[in-house]
Amino acid sequence: MKEIKYLSNTENDLEIAALLLKNGEIVGIPTETVYGLGADATNADAVRKIFEVKGRPSDNPMIVHICDMDMLREYADDIPTVVYRLAEKFWPGPLTMVLSKRSNIPDVVSAGLDTIGLRMPDNEATLKIIKNLGRPVAAPSANKSGYPSPTTAQHVYDDMNGKIAAVVDAGPCTVGVESTVISFEGYDSVRILRPGYITPEQLRTVVDDVVVDNSITSDEPVNVQEVRSPGMKYKHYSPKARVILVREGLEMFKKYVSQQSDENAYSLIFDYDVPDFPYKYMTYGSTPEEQAQQIFAKLREADKMGIETLYVRAPRKEGVGLAVYNRLIRAAGYEVVES
Ligand code: TXA
Ligand code: MG
Repeated sequence: MKEIKYLSNTENDLEIAALLLKNGEIVGIPTETVYGLGADATNADAVRKIFEVKGRPSDNPMIVHICDMDMLREYADDIPTVVYRLAEKFWPGPLTMVLSKRSNIPDVVSAGLDTIGLRMPDNEATLKIIKNLGRPVAAPSANKSGYPSPTTAQHVYDDMNGKIAAVVDAGPCTVGVESTVISFEGYDSVRILRPGYITPEQLRTVVDDVVVDNSITSDEPVNVQEVRSPGMKYKHYSPKARVILVREGLEMFKKYVSQQSDENAYSLIFDYDVPDFPYKYMTYGSTPEEQAQQIFAKLREADKMGIETLYVRAPRKEGVGLAVYNRLIRAAGYEVVES
């Protein structure tokens, strides 16, 4: 295929993006979380192409992106009332709700499940594209399967040039980690299948009972059979560099690094760790929100620099830090050291 076409977020380019999707092409789309690889969610052939270009296992379902509440009712069935309360508070935004699928979404999108994950992204350009298309857009993150997610159009280019028609460049993603994925267990009860920018505490302001799935809190890979969100079971988000996640205080972290002998190793530390850090380092922000926004770009940058080993200062598993930690432990293939 030809060189990827860069589109901007002008009215005209957003029309072009929608037309490409209408023709069954795949387009890189911006969202507030990460860039997605979009296809018309009602076009099974187009969705099959996404699995192909991404190298994605066919048992991993895709998130379906909508632009308004009519689309929610049109494509999901048996919607619990709490969904409307959650949508009111968090949509458009980084929350994906797993609901019963209607037959107007082909089975390939849900990887054969009878549910679909639906989300209204908080990005003007992509909402406009979906509106222009008049149909929802199925989109996984736009990385090669297993690699860190893309948070700029350049990242999409790096992974997908020659494989997809176009990418819509709306600048760097503001959130930086993927949406929180939840399913519904009862009248007023949700289960978090993947942690994201919307924290358990925030969900508890709307829903009484919020369960965090044990695959999220565990520092060990959970038995594949037990994983309810299929995407969580693969080694994931991994750069070429070997990532080692090191918990938890700075002094112990420095001691750990001092004991290593790998010449081509760097540390990925917090901005406020820099004074008095005597080893080679990169930084990824101070607050959990900054860490979320920067983490994937920094993992990719480590590869560009040819770094072989990256010791990462682990964030606390709290608030947005839970999502950052969840991505890092998978990037590390569960190689965690307690320093
Ligand atoms: O922020 C995001 O969610 C980004 C942007 C592009 O919207 N998308 C994204 O898609 O992260 P992807 O395909 O990389 O991850 C989708 C996650 C996977 O863990 C998948 O297993 C889960 O959502 N998922 C999708 N549909 C599901 C379903 N019906 N039941 C359970 N989990 C589902
Ligand atoms: Mg992904």
